[in-house]
Amino acid sequence: MSASDLHLWHPFTQEGIDPPALSIRGGKGVFIETRDGRQILDAISSWWVNLHGHSHPAIAEAIAAQAARLEHVLFAGFSHEPAEELAARLGKIVPAPLRHVFFSDDGSTAVEVALKLALQYWTNCGRPKKRRIVALENAYHGDTMGAMSVSDDSPFTAAFDSLRIPVLRTHSASCAHCPVGLTRAACHIECLDKLERLLRAQGDEIAVVIVEPLLQGAGGMIVHPEEFLSGVRRLTAAHDVLLIADEVLTGFGRTGRMFACERAAVVPDLMCVAKGLTGGFLPLAATFATDRVHDAFTGGDRARAFFHGHSYTANPIACAAANASLQIFESEPVFERIAAIEKVHAARLPAFAAHPTVADTRHIGTVAAIELKVPDAGYLSSLRPRLYEFFLKRGVLLRPLGNVVYILPPYVITPEQLNFVYDAIQDSLALVSKTA
Ligand SMILES: Cc1ncc(COP(=O)(O)O)c(C=O)c1O
Repeated sequence: MSASDLHLWHPFTQEGIDPPALSIRGGKGVFIETRDGRQILDAISSWWVNLHGHSHPAIAEAIAAQAARLEHVLFAGFSHEPAEELAARLGKIVPAPLRHVFFSDDGSTAVEVALKLALQYWTNCGRPKKRRIVALENAYHGDTMGAMSVSDDSPFTAAFDSLRIPVLRTHSASCAHCPVGLTRAACHIECLDKLERLLRAQGDEIAVVIVEPLLQGAGGMIVHPEEFLSGVRRLTAAHDVLLIADEVLTGFGRTGRMFACERAAVVPDLMCVAKGLTGGFLPLAATFATDRVHDAFTGGDRARAFFHGHSYTANPIACAAANASLQIFESEPVFERIAAIEKVHAARLPAFAAHPTVADTRHIGTVAAIELKVPDAGYLSSLRPRLYEFFLKRGVLLRPLGNVVYILPPYVITPEQLNFVYDAIQDSLALVSKTA
């Protein structure tokens, strides 16, 4: 680095405390390679984006071909083939009533779009009093102002709390820490009662409820019973309130089905995807809407338009990457790979559940989590950096969420590689015993 080089400021990283960034020169399959030639197994799909392995040639070729044909064109007043093909492909896999797609850039913007659509929907319908948003405890929906407002309070939001849009917070179905003090075996999803009370009391003012369907990611890889999600849908429909399903993490197979909503037979009014949309190659996001929502923005007064867009909306190269990734779902045995991952999770987790330093284990589809018993539970747990370093020394990239170690691998991981990851976690438990 010469004196004139700019210093790189990394996300979620505190200089002087966190270790310096590792420079990565390549990636192949589940591995990323450091500049000095070390192979690291990427067990978290590089922040949950990679589906089919790093540098998959079919996606790389589609990107190169599209870049040589048309790199970008504005999407207001213009369209292009990669976006049209992508709309057709997505139309075959998203729940049928979600017939409209609005593209943006990342998970946070997909959430911003969904929130703004939901709020303007009610204004356009002549019910401007419906302005309030309900979100779940433990939620994480992104780092922009709207997305951060609907996310639960955390170290991520603390510096901005006075500026966040006030939202109504309701229970999440976090069975390991049941918000109403029950056990799963004895409960009838009583954690939904608070939402029901809110909707009864303030339904006329509530515009929308937003959830991460079945799996709350950054809040600690919390797996919800399917009845919770179907209950949220039932209640929102009964009280004439819109439902946003934020599938930014769960979309494209992570929970064992193409979308988590499918598992609970739920169709939301608005649905957000990003992360895996391009197979992990380029930023691209989409917010889907039903006819009901979309049609409130058409015709009549000019003020009914959705005045929202980003310079790179529906970037053709990103759309080409997404088309290539969705093609891989057809040409490679992706759901067989997903099933094989689930099988290893189911086989390995019981031994962890029985371990004295483990508070809880959970899994859904390709995602598994092990919550560790520590005195300082939470995102800033002192155990976290020690675990992170331990795993890296073992050649495995795992970024625990505080005291929750989770595995969220690219689908091409083999059972042997996944067992290697589990063996590293098994050996890390000695560190927990020293902390407790
Ligand atoms: C459920 C969910 N929504 C939204 C986001 C924000 O996505 P992005 O980081 O692409 O802005 C995330 C990111 O982790 C997420 O997990």
